[in-house]
Amino acid sequence: MPLVNGKDLLLPAFKEGKAVGAFNANNMEMTQAIIWAAEEISKELGEPVGVIIQVSPGAVKYAGWSLAAGIVKIAAAETDVPVALNLDHATEIEQIKRALEMGFTSVLFDGSSLPLEENIRLTKKVVEICHARGVPVEAEIGKIPRIEDYFTESEIAYLRSIPPAEAVRIIRERTRKSLDDLVAKPEDAEYFVRNTGCDFLAAAFGSIHGMWDDIWPIRLDLLIAIKERVRIPLVSHGSSGILRTKKDAERKGIPLLEGEGTLLDAIKFGGVAKVNVATALSVAFIDGFIETWRANPSEKDFRKLGENARNKVKEKVKEYINLFAGK
Ligand code: G3H
Ligand code: ZN
Repeated sequence: MPLVNGKDLLLPAFKEGKAVGAFNANNMEMTQAIIWAAEEISKELGEPVGVIIQVSPGAVKYAGWSLAAGIVKIAAAETDVPVALNLDHATEIEQIKRALEMGFTSVLFDGSSLPLEENIRLTKKVVEICHARGVPVEAEIGKIPRIEDYFTESEIAYLRSIPPAEAVRIIRERTRKSLDDLVAKPEDAEYFVRNTGCDFLAAAFGSIHGMWDDIWPIRLDLLIAIKERVRIPLVSHGSSGILRTKKDAERKGIPLLEGEGTLLDAIKFGGVAKVNVATALSVAFIDGFIETWRANPSEKDFRKLGENARNKVKEKVKEYINLFAGK
């Protein structure tokens, strides 16, 4: 079917206290993996499960606008599951205009690096432009950092090699003060939404972009306070790193401190209706590729590696969709 509007997926999910997966795709294999995962789960559940496929300015730089968007549009046209196409983390109005020309069905304007009033001014402008075309706007306040803002590459390699609970202890130690300064303030969130008219809000609630494993607790207390002041769908960024469930926390021996929670808590109690996952898919793709190559280093057929990479991404997407479906 043709691409669906982002609102058609997110508003019903928000009303029901559920979430829609928003998965980043950089190539054909990842796009197929996301859609095939949604198709398989739709079949299992006996009802269509929609997905949001996201293209970031980085993906556009890698593939070009036409292919980055075109692959998703073509794949969406060939499936019965509803697919929305979101521009992820656009920082310039020109990128938004280009996305509208290319038929994106939602956009994220990320003015989070700007002072609040400037972020409001530009987001409002984006809302005007997009709403004139019926396209909803996600906006961002507070700052959601990247793990690389705190650790060098070799430190990250070390953190990946140790037990998750120990990695969390080290990350807490280094990031705590900074993350407290970067999160969104509930009163700012309310003021921001009222003055911009944005449709969905990515408010920083303690997550970190680019983590390799789901180990990091979020500030559930803050998220709930934001939800109470902002009655629009909230968006979880940096979701690859977020601990998914309390059971996972116990299994991995990761303590939840007072006020902290998991991704499932964020959906059930924190008004999160859109869950952005990128790094987990990238890691799954790389793992699949390398696994096949290691099994046969003389392999000359690229497709054998791509096939396993695509399969690993599909399984990862299914894990997330099942989590959102309460499976
Ligand atoms: O906008 C994209 C997401 O926030 C993805 O974050 O790469 O940590 O999953 P992630
Ligand atoms: Zn993000």
